[in-house]
Amino acid sequence: MKRIVILISGRGSNMVSLVEACEREGWAARIAAVVSNRPEAGGLTWAAGRGIATAVVDHRAHAGRDAFDAALAEAIDAHAPDLVVLAGFMRILTPAFVAHFEGRLLNIHPSLLPAFPGLHTHERALQAGCKLAGATVHFVTAELDHGPIVAQAVVPVLPQDTPDALAARVLAREHVLYPLAVRWWIEGALEIDQGIVRHRDGAPQLLG
Ligand code: GAR
Repeated sequence: MKRIVILISGRGSNMVSLVEACEREGWAARIAAVVSNRPEAGGLTWAAGRGIATAVVDHRAHAGRDAFDAALAEAIDAHAPDLVVLAGFMRILTPAFVAHFEGRLLNIHPSLLPAFPGLHTHERALQAGCKLAGATVHFVTAELDHGPIVAQAVVPVLPQDTPDALAARVLAREHVLYPLAVRWWIEGALEIDQGIVRHRDGAPQLLG
């Protein structure tokens, strides 16, 4: 059984999709803990209600990024994870933290990377006149939102879209994309060659 620790900062809808897919699909894995940098994160209550261990490492209680990331790594390591999954975790991570979890740290980002790293992705996609938007699951590297791409999901941008409407359309696909990508990692199906991630058996890494 692989052990997964999920990091959240807010409502945790991606976390819910991962927990439910893990149970429904019978992954050879269990969610060992959910950790948040915000005590008020709604997802913590949901996870605790499911009997999942939860922890809070409040970034406001630490003097700087290095101290926060060291405390966060310690809280995560207490659950001896094979894989650490960022699910709406809204903190920039230090190179030391990323190196510690190298190869076993995944993130989901609500844009078609490398377009629109950082914040306000949907607003920026609309302002750029994009006709296509989506989400990306990638391995985390020290450069923000730039690691090797595991899988992407695309959605159309519609003429009357607002950032919220587009975000909702993308989020619905995130809930399918992330469990798929995490399951592939659990199954050992992902191969990385010179920064390019391929599925061992050629499963499509693009979802419509
Ligand atoms: C998701 O859309 C996720 O892609 C995004 O935050 C949202 C979290 O929602 N993540 C980032 O922007 C990371 N840079 P959730 O808490 O309901 O899963």
